[in-house]
Amino acid sequence: MAEVVIVEHEEAAGRLVADAIVALIRSKPDAVLGLATGSTPLATYRSLASRIAEESIDVRGVRGFALDEYVGLPAGHPESYRAVITREVVEPLGLTPELVRVPNGDPASIEHAGADYEAALVAAGGVDLQILGIGRTGHIGFNEPGSSLASLTRVKTLTEPTRADNARFFDAPEDVPMHCITQGIGTILRARHLVLLAFGEAKAHAVAAAVEGPVTASQPGSAIQLHPHTTVVIDEAAASELENLAYYRHAWANKPNWQGI
Ligand code: PGA
Repeated sequence: MAEVVIVEHEEAAGRLVADAIVALIRSKPDAVLGLATGSTPLATYRSLASRIAEESIDVRGVRGFALDEYVGLPAGHPESYRAVITREVVEPLGLTPELVRVPNGDPASIEHAGADYEAALVAAGGVDLQILGIGRTGHIGFNEPGSSLASLTRVKTLTEPTRADNARFFDAPEDVPMHCITQGIGTILRARHLVLLAFGEAKAHAVAAAVEGPVTASQPGSAIQLHPHTTVVIDEAAASELENLAYYRHAWANKPNWQGI
């Protein structure tokens, strides 16, 4: 079972996850972080940036791999995930840009971009801690419903609800790309620790399906149940459709002090 931690608000979640990442970097200065985009992980990145600055943590050796990228946005487009990761993660945290990779969404090389990314992940020794958001459709990364639970990095077609959700970042809804390149569910499951974050009522159904529903490709988030070390950090609204809430709270309240998330 995933550990489910219900927090008061996004900032508290950010602090909790930043704590885990700081502990990881202190024990492994060249740790490999799995980086998510979207609104959900921003509080974690903010909290982590403050900790790194305040405690002068050396992050020059930290490596990163983004989950996904749009296909076909012009290089340097501000909403390409390469640009987002640079703006929200690499610069504020002070990471070494060359050590942070994003899948390559250039149509010219897209046929082998997935295999290239998988090879880079393997060469890096795999992801130590993977941050995940979850879409309303239940997607993790951009693995939309129906994605194979064994899938590796490849091109996917975005669902219309996902394109609509992401339209807020673009000038017009039709500007949201149709295709993306995303780590597969099989890729994500290779990370050593998964941390899934979700906030707000709009995510409640996807969270309940991921944590308590049957494991099914129709709800890609449910693949977390196959992983031996998953932490789900959510607010009350995102937790509102969970059935075993009392037990999650009980387990968290009685968690041994020596155990991190
Ligand atoms: P969001 O997206 O963080 O912008 O809500 C989450 C996701 O689609 O995975």
